Amino acid sequence: MDYNEAKQLLKKYDQLQLLDYYEELNGEERAKLLSDIEKTDFSVLENLRSEDGKKLGALAPADALSLEDIQRQRGEYEECGLAALRAGKVAAVLLAGGQGTRLGSSLPKGMYNIGLTRTLTIFEQQMNNIFDVVKKAGVMFHIFVMTSDINDEVTRKYFADCNYFGYDSSKIHFYEQKLAPTCSKEGKIYLDEKYKVSMSPNGNGGWYSSLVEAGYAPLLKSEGIEWLNIYAVDNVLQRICDPVFIGATLKSGCACSGKVVKKVSPEERVGVLCKEDGRPAIVEYYEMPPELAALRDADGELTYRYGVILNYLFSVETLNKIYNDKLPCHLAFKAVPHIENGVRVTPSLPCGYKFETLAVDIVRLMGSCLAVEVDRSREFAPVKNKTGVDSVESARELLKLNGVKL
Ligand code: UTP
Repeated sequence: MDYNEAKQLLKKYDQLQLLDYYEELNGEERAKLLSDIEKTDFSVLENLRSEDGKKLGALAPADALSLEDIQRQRGEYEECGLAALRAGKVAAVLLAGGQGTRLGSSLPKGMYNIGLTRTLTIFEQQMNNIFDVVKKAGVMFHIFVMTSDINDEVTRKYFADCNYFGYDSSKIHFYEQKLAPTCSKEGKIYLDEKYKVSMSPNGNGGWYSSLVEAGYAPLLKSEGIEWLNIYAVDNVLQRICDPVFIGATLKSGCACSGKVVKKVSPEERVGVLCKEDGRPAIVEYYEMPPELAALRDADGELTYRYGVILNYLFSVETLNKIYNDKLPCHLAFKAVPHIENGVRVTPSLPCGYKFETLAVDIVRLMGSCLAVEVDRSREFAPVKNKTGVDSVESARELLKLNGVKL
């Protein structure tokens, strides 16, 4: 794309500000900027208008297999899950493409050191959790690691430098998710540098399409992988490919399942698994009407009590059926570094939008979802912030409670 073509394209989308500093750039920088403009998906800007009209359908609480239900059938579920693992029917997908802006580290979130007297990164702790299952099942399952352009190289190198934590490296596969431009409140796409369009990972909703586009569908088929267990990088107590969870899902006949915990308060910042217009759906905490979030049953329990922890099991067959269905795009209002009046600024407060599709919205498309309650003190230690709620500090306390030496 040459300068005139870029100008024409930008005029069409009212984004000529991206060429504001073109005259100042050297040859190499100009080429980089023009190539960025050519690669930018301007269509995401349409979501700035359509998001306003997004309305929730009729909500109702969802049922879940409670801790007591599971306890009664634990042995049976575990046996079924272990059999599926041994038959190679289940693989794990680590969602590690995010930016971790709240944690404020430039390294991939998984490389954050949660150790105190030794180095223990989040990646390592999650691999330790995986080894608990591997020991029980006697087999190593495939693990797909989704990264993004901002952290792919360093993530791959880190795993290689750590000798894949002792895991069979032929069973660990990396792939990249896509990026989307970021923009100001007024809908003007930001420059990250005078020669670079500001881009950020486009949310975790594209985890399956990116996996397929990366060429892994034939591997899923040849290995007989029927179920994918996706999990977030930022929960250090994450139980991955948990045989009880797998067994309960397989026996339920549902197309997907999600681990849930009982919310500690109506305000807790977790999505809630419920029914929307009769279909299983996850409503994000910021979308949930406060009066519904605060509603309680006669026994005092929150009516909408089941919070999701980003650990889901999806049937590959159903994922393929809904492959072409469109996911809604969410606007995330974040502190986005950008060029302002010729200078790069790093705001501490949100100033602009990122465009994201979310894995939770896939649940809506799957048609049926089993909610499986887990003990939050054993399985939920999110690392979102440096201090306070859902932080490195709170996660360390929970790890200690679970006997992990820090
Ligand atoms: P979060 O929604 O907490 O986002 O991700 P984040 O980017 O890690 O952190 P903040 O909001 O900037 O502080 C939940 C999970 O989804 C993954 C993250 O890596 C994490 O495991 N994720 C998020 C992706 O894989 N891709 C994305 O584009 C966004």
